[in-house]
Amino acid sequence: MTGRPRLLVIDDNRELADNLVELFEERGFAVEVVPSAAAGLEIARSRGFDLAFVDVNLPETSGHELVPALRSACPYGEVLLMTGHASIDSAIAAVRVGAFQYVVKPFNVGELVATVDRALSQVQLRAEREALSRQLGESERRYRDVVDSTGVLVFALDGDARVVMANRRACDTVGVPSEELVGADFFIRCIAAESRASARTRVDAVLRGQGAIEFDASLVAKSGLRAVRWHGTPASGGSPKSAALVYLTGVDVTERLELERRAAESEALAHMGTLAAGLAHEIRNPLNAAGLQLHLLGRAVDRLPDGDDRSPLKARVEIVASELKRLEHLLGDFLELARPRPIAREPVDLVALLERVLSLHEPIASARGITVERRFAQATARGDRERLEQVFHNLVVNALEASAEHGVIEVSVEREEGPTPTVLAAVRDDGRGIPEATLARIYEPFFTTKPAGTGLGLTIVRQIVQRHGGAVLIDSAEAKGTRVAVRLPAFAT
Ligand SMILES: Nc1ncnc2c1ncn2[C@@H]1O[C@H](COP(=O)(O)OP(=O)(O)OP(=O)(O)O)[C@@H](O)[C@H]1O
Ligand SMILES: [Mg+2]
Repeated sequence: MTGRPRLLVIDDNRELADNLVELFEERGFAVEVVPSAAAGLEIARSRGFDLAFVDVNLPETSGHELVPALRSACPYGEVLLMTGHASIDSAIAAVRVGAFQYVVKPFNVGELVATVDRALSQVQLRAEREALSRQLGESERRYRDVVDSTGVLVFALDGDARVVMANRRACDTVGVPSEELVGADFFIRCIAAESRASARTRVDAVLRGQGAIEFDASLVAKSGLRAVRWHGTPASGGSPKSAALVYLTGVDVTERLELERRAAESEALAHMGTLAAGLAHEIRNPLNAAGLQLHLLGRAVDRLPDGDDRSPLKARVEIVASELKRLEHLLGDFLELARPRPIAREPVDLVALLERVLSLHEPIASARGITVERRFAQATARGDRERLEQVFHNLVVNALEASAEHGVIEVSVEREEGPTPTVLAAVRDDGRGIPEATLARIYEPFFTTKPAGTGLGLTIVRQIVQRHGGAVLIDSAEAKGTRVAVRLPAFAT
């Protein structure tokens, strides 16, 4: 109610109406008089009123019937019914239809003014209450918007850990509508079994009034288990010793934890690499000395007079020599991985390179009845000859190791034309193939399925090829065979 209080008089008795006008205008009211229900309703709808005086006996209708229509046309206003004949029944009827009070003519001015004052303070109160509830509704909507639009999971739990409220993010993540979450036991519905007991203990502590807490517990989400860091706070309004409600906000940290784990892993690998490189250097000197001494020992054995002892001795020397070679090779691999030297960018004739690699392995292949087929087109890669030899050496050894007797190994080279020309060299075998589970791990350092394998071969192959700006492509089917192709930049002439 702003400005002067507005009074509407609906009465066909002109004299009485004039009295009311006089009485209330001098008290600061704005008074309007109409003789009929229709005219009164018209004003109620268009301009409203604070207080309406309605005569019980109107020409077209009864005042009782008019009250509900007036109240719905102007919900904040109050209505006083006027009558010349008071009766208990009509008084009850007046209250029943929603009138503020029933006043009897002729009026006692003092009483009438007091009634009007009371009715107006009622109007005032109602207006204030409505404004407040509007404000409250708005602020609730605003908070709800914030809670719903945040990327954080928000739950409110009652004293029995039942969900009272869950925001949109929480419902989306769990994958059920809010109605399904509300009322459910939070721990059973949302928390993974293994985290349940400890999470419950932490939330209970908040309910017992021990203040805010933070804990980690896995959420059962529609996409599987998610690692979530929770923050629990007691709702304000509870007694200081206990809370009736707990707010839980959760941040999904699954990706972050995975990143941290990978960072720690690669840091550990880097440390290991440095350590390995240092060790490899230290081992290389005594290894060289041992090799030299063995060579001298071999010569000395050669000089022994022919006899029974000589050939077993010679055989032992050869075994030790081949083991030393293996060790040297392993050291080379270690050093390549740990401290790679820069890659040369020279023209490398891939056909010539592959012929050299194959010449080393063909004697072993033919001894096992394995055929090596060539499908060579002239191709020149841009790269490091020594490193690329290492690559194909590893691939051919893997193919031989995977092949059964009378297997076929096909080695191919082709040029690939395009905006940036590349060359593709591949080694294909028809051996045992790689099972799917193994395929995911073959590049891991030290992953091997062979009793005497080191598991560094493909790790080094990929590292070298990637440092050339190329790619390794593996195609394998269990029991059918494997094709490992290496794509390298072509040397532009
Ligand atoms: N051509 C192939 N056919 C079948 N399996 C293969 C083939 N090439 C690689 N693999 C699988 O991948 C694994 C890893 O190969 P990688 O060359 O890295 O190590 P390795 O051969 O086991 O040991 P080394 O370090 O001596 O080479 C092998 O143990 C084998 O299981
Ligand atoms: Mg290998």
